[in-house]
Amino acid sequence: PKVIFVALDGSRRTIDAAVGDSVMATAVKNGVPGIVGECGGNLSCATCHVYVDEDFAALVGPPNDLEDDMLDLGVSDRRSTSRLSCQIKLTEALDGITVELPEEQP
Ligand code: FES
Repeated sequence: PKVIFVALDGSRRTIDAAVGDSVMATAVKNGVPGIVGECGGNLSCATCHVYVDEDFAALVGPPNDLEDDMLDLGVSDRRSTSRLSCQIKLTEALDGITVELPEEQP
């Protein structure tokens, strides 16, 4: 599946990702700036915050309770489409998923 990362300046980067990888792992492997992934996907750092494009928000679904709490620790504004990208596992159904990077990670 393709993942499209939209940077703060509006520039887009499309990456061919592997099914089963998370959006965070895809970003880190490909050196996408703006996603840190400090805890390695263990839901304990909130440095992988992204805003999921409206068109994919329903498909991705809402965060679980723990992720919800962690999102409150992010330094950038939280939106209704905020997710921690280590918790978004890629499937073919998510092909073309577009995520916007926040201003800052903790
Ligand atoms: Fe740490 Fe996502 S990588 S919470």
